[in-house]
Amino acid sequence: MNVFENDKRYTEIIDYVKRGINGYDSGHDWYHIQRVYSLSLYIYDIEGVGDVTIICLGALIHDIGDRKFDEYHKHDEIRLFLENLGYEARVIDAVIDINKNISFSSSDNKSEKSTELMIVQDADRLDAIGAIGIARAFNYGGFKNRAIYQPDYIALPAGDMVAYRKSTSPTLNHFYEKLLLLKDMMNTATGKRLAVERHAFMEQFLEQFYREWYLKEDKR
Ligand code: ADP
Ligand code: NI
Repeated sequence: MNVFENDKRYTEIIDYVKRGINGYDSGHDWYHIQRVYSLSLYIYDIEGVGDVTIICLGALIHDIGDRKFDEYHKHDEIRLFLENLGYEARVIDAVIDINKNISFSSSDNKSEKSTELMIVQDADRLDAIGAIGIARAFNYGGFKNRAIYQPDYIALPAGDMVAYRKSTSPTLNHFYEKLLLLKDMMNTATGKRLAVERHAFMEQFLEQFYREWYLKEDKR
């Protein structure tokens, strides 16, 4: 399924997104956007619900104006951009709703999620866990020059979003603050299913990490 087949707007949208994420860390580069786009379509194909144009545009635009990297949200700019491309208000509103509510720190106080938000959010969360999620977490930690692990670092209280946004914790803490929680926060059945293997891999990674750090060896 390619909603942009023969649609000249696609190159303009790609250019806009690439410009928008310029300066983000490489865990939030164009490949991340492409993975979220493909995963969203993969989930959509299985679940068979939602408006595929909104899902595709929502996936492409989801990280524009991310407050981890940008000083301001860009909801008005996104609206103007999509209006100029001729998209109808219903589509634009839905895409902005995804952009506003996708992130871990802003979304779960929202009770009613659109089907399209649920799908793109699951795709974005799946890309934050598993082998790719581990790579992205350490990449972001490196980008911010965070410690990898500090044994005596006191963990943040789970669910405290104010503390989460301000946190400068070591990257290992981020697994407990966010990454290991994502499996149980998936919206769709397909998202839940895909999260299982990725979650198990992170647990295995952590076990091995501590084994090496604390010099544990199997007795032979
Ligand atoms: P969110 O807005 O929910 O944080 P994003 O998809 O924009 O979601 O970014 C998540 C990515 O950034 C994940 O791969 C995540 O591991 C990484 N990331 C965000 N904060 C941190 C952090 N404090 N330490 C390590 N990685 C982080
Ligand atoms: Ni993202």
